Amino acid sequence: MLKLNINGKTVEVQSDPATPLLWVLRCELKMTGTKFGCGVGVCGACTVHIGKEAKTSCQEKLSDIGANRITTIEGLQGTQARALKEAWTHVDVVQCGYCQSAQLMAASALIQRNPTPSLKDIDCAMHGIICRCGTYPRIRQAILEATGQVKRT
Ligand code: FES
Ligand code: FES
Repeated sequence: MLKLNINGKTVEVQSDPATPLLWVLRCELKMTGTKFGCGVGVCGACTVHIGKEAKTSCQEKLSDIGANRITTIEGLQGTQARALKEAWTHVDVVQCGYCQSAQLMAASALIQRNPTPSLKDIDCAMHGIICRCGTYPRIRQAILEATGQVKRT
């Protein structure tokens, strides 16, 4: 048994220490807000925060996480996260929605470390998360709105 810190709570899990976090979240803990895409670290759909960093949870073994705080889309909160969610709604970012929890997790990690990211910063932080619906321009717009760099129209 291992103990993880997920969304501010200590959670005991039974999975083997070599299991990637994504499988533990979705299969053992039934936290399905974090999505399974490729399973091999190339689509970004499984992005969560480990500590303050956005990480692909399919590439993070339980044994490597230790006491680091894990935040998933279910636990994403605070002023910046609220601003992002409001901007996402205002800009109407979401299409099928499959990639969007990962997009929000990556955007949140970005603005926590850089409260006024440039377009280049945004593209750099978000480029690993594939959106098959092509919502990239709206994601950029929503991040600029959430960080007060463009006014809502
Ligand atoms: S499911 Fe983790 S990167 Fe694709
Ligand atoms: S909104 Fe459909 S994959 Fe991104």
